[in-house]
Amino acid sequence: MSRFFDQRLAALAPYTPGEQPREARRWIKLNTNESPFPPAPGVAAVLATAADSLRLYPDPTCGALRQAAAARYRLSPQQVFAANGSDEVLAFCFRGLCPQGALFPDLTYGFYPVFCRMFGVRYQEVPLDDAFCVRPADYQGRAGTIFLANPNAPSGLALSLAQIETLLAQDRERLVVVDEAYVDFGAESALGLLARYDNLLVTQTFSKSRALAGGRLGLAFGSEALIADLERLKYSFNPYSVNRLTLLAGEAALQDEAYFRACCDAIMANRALAAEGLRGLGCRLTESLANFLLVAAPGLSGAAYQAALREAGILVRYFDQPRIRDYVRISIGSREEMLALLAATRQILERGNAHAAGKPGTHDE
Ligand SMILES: Cc1ncc(COP(=O)(O)O)c(C=O)c1O
Repeated sequence: MSRFFDQRLAALAPYTPGEQPREARRWIKLNTNESPFPPAPGVAAVLATAADSLRLYPDPTCGALRQAAAARYRLSPQQVFAANGSDEVLAFCFRGLCPQGALFPDLTYGFYPVFCRMFGVRYQEVPLDDAFCVRPADYQGRAGTIFLANPNAPSGLALSLAQIETLLAQDRERLVVVDEAYVDFGAESALGLLARYDNLLVTQTFSKSRALAGGRLGLAFGSEALIADLERLKYSFNPYSVNRLTLLAGEAALQDEAYFRACCDAIMANRALAAEGLRGLGCRLTESLANFLLVAAPGLSGAAYQAALREAGILVRYFDQPRIRDYVRISIGSREEMLALLAATRQILERGNAHAAGKPGTHDE
């Protein structure tokens, strides 16, 4: 830390992103919930001719993209906000929409408490139940902006629309931010509730279901007044946070609904294949509706399972947190990657069983 660093931020524990390997080795990369598929074909087409336009600043209003998103979700462009990844959308929410502090589950997206500490927002973590589910009743009577990832991370478990509506109706003066980063893989979106609840803000990302993690694009949907607040915050920080290439890529991705559906369907099918195979090997899993699984392998800690998969060339994510030390989070990849994961897990477990039985390992290569 330099002597110039603000000591009020000295205790900041930054978010640790998943590993992005640079070396030549070909990993099966299932650690950061990216898409195994390329972006929609139209994305490459628009980017191929876009270099000249980089001379100019991007449209700070993100007008064309907001229009396309509004049309896709049957809202008005004034109900849509765009920023540099949903992380930036969320940053603005924590910075400017939490005058009474923030509330979120004790197990959720690890960036929420980091934002709070960065921006000096008081927060309470509300424990999930033993099955990692949110109990809406636990939020009754508590003040502060609620942040709910739905489906949640890293459990993949989703609240029903009725449960989200319960939270919204508990207190109409309390804002509920529903982070729908993973909603396209089988959960119900809360967007339909916007017409009745002006205390709802929904965030989404292009990083997962639209295969544009590297483009950094996130959206928020809410009342025109809430969106105007987010615009105020963005224009007080970086009006150009969404670059030209990303605006074009986002628009092109939104236009190809068939490709979007095909990718989501393939990921859900690969998730079902992986979940069934892992259960067959004796693993414990949550009922994930996201593009990842939370998996505990029998007889192995999460750290040991992660290390063994790494040795087999497969990267997954382990979180050193009290309630999930038995688990790893495995992103859903291609069918081939899921088959490789199952084969590696079978070998790891067989090796473990052979050691436990005192026999020489049969897979010690
Ligand atoms: C629950 C949740 N919300 C938001 C994000 C941020 O996504 P991005 O900034 O790539 O849009 C992530 C990323 O993994 C996430 O897991």
